[in-house]
Amino acid sequence: MKAFQIAGSFGLDNVKLVELPEPQPGPGQVVVRMRAASLNYRDLVVIKGGYGPRQTLPRIPLSDGAGEIAAVGAGVTRVKVGDRVVGCFAPAWLEGPITQEKVDSALGGFVDGVLAESVLMNAESVLPVPAHLTFPEAATLPCAALTAWNALFVADHICPGTTVLVQGTGGVSLFALQFARMAGARVIVTSSSDHKLARAKELGASAGINYKTTPDWEKEVRKLTEGRGADHVVEVGGAGTFNRSLACVRMGGMISMIGVLAGASGEVRTTQILFRAVRVQGIFVGSRAMFEDMNRAIAANNLHPVVDRTFPFAEAPAALRHLESGAHFGKLVVAI
Ligand SMILES: NC(=O)c1ccc[n+]([C@@H]2O[C@H](COP(=O)([O-])OP(=O)(O)OC[C@H]3O[C@@H](n4cnc5c(N)ncnc54)[C@H](OP(=O)(O)O)[C@@H]3O)[C@@H](O)[C@H]2O)c1
Repeated sequence: MKAFQIAGSFGLDNVKLVELPEPQPGPGQVVVRMRAASLNYRDLVVIKGGYGPRQTLPRIPLSDGAGEIAAVGAGVTRVKVGDRVVGCFAPAWLEGPITQEKVDSALGGFVDGVLAESVLMNAESVLPVPAHLTFPEAATLPCAALTAWNALFVADHICPGTTVLVQGTGGVSLFALQFARMAGARVIVTSSSDHKLARAKELGASAGINYKTTPDWEKEVRKLTEGRGADHVVEVGGAGTFNRSLACVRMGGMISMIGVLAGASGEVRTTQILFRAVRVQGIFVGSRAMFEDMNRAIAANNLHPVVDRTFPFAEAPAALRHLESGAHFGKLVVAI
């Protein structure tokens, strides 16, 4: 079977197509004939060596994929050959609280990922694809969608009338937009592009702020919320945006700390957290139990993920470069 590996050394130039033996399922395992894989910003970090010295090579990248069960090992009753499935981002995190062991099981990090024609998975860590979704759509769910779901509905309790601020128009942010709208919340979006803001409004955002032409976007958020501030901020910028998020979240509101696209460390106005009773919650994707809840909501609301573009398998390196460019709106997918 064909697969892409990061081989030799780190870097986008070292993602190569290779031929590997067809995997065979052991007890409790399944082989998934992958049909689509989706890209996350994390994949670029992994490929560039950002996971540090514990990361060994060669490594098959990407965490998120969907396909059909091609073979099942002894004792597997959860799925059968031919079932349409999507894999969990962290196969060891089925339920309960997060632990380091669960985090380390994440695909495409310290263990092989899904950018391959056939992938060995634990039967316990695959879920049925919601019936109304295609493979490319389902492949977008394991990381970006579940992270947004966890932030809005597990770590917080978004409901009708809540105001959610989402930063940018990448994978996590657009799922947060769609989920917040699904729950009857009002959504404000920031973006570097007026064109992307217009597209976000088509998805239901009530207001858009260009953070390039309006660098003090937090003041605009305050104006848009009659001075009250947003109830929930989906923080993907990190150090470069955090203090502005603090300035425009409402008193007692929540900032879900998800990404560090604008820097990993910097000065934090800690008194603002204290005196305004802001809740800051780190989010790490989510468990299989959360994934099941999310899929029920996606099916009940006929929600379709925003797939910006699907690349052929052979062009996976080009898809990664496209992600790096930041030109995308929502998710990029590789068909397999
Ligand atoms: N904690 C977790 O479990 C978890 C899970 C998934 C992702 N993440 C992290 O979350 C972040 C987003 O991931 P993703 O996969 O959604 O990325 P992505 O699809 O590549 O999205 C990137 C988008 O973020 C926006 N952006 C970049 N810099 C920004 C800034 N300074 N202010 C506001 N928006 C900015 C841009 O939107 P515009 O083009 O509209 O400006 C850009 O297109 C990454 O840091 C990733 O590592 C964390």
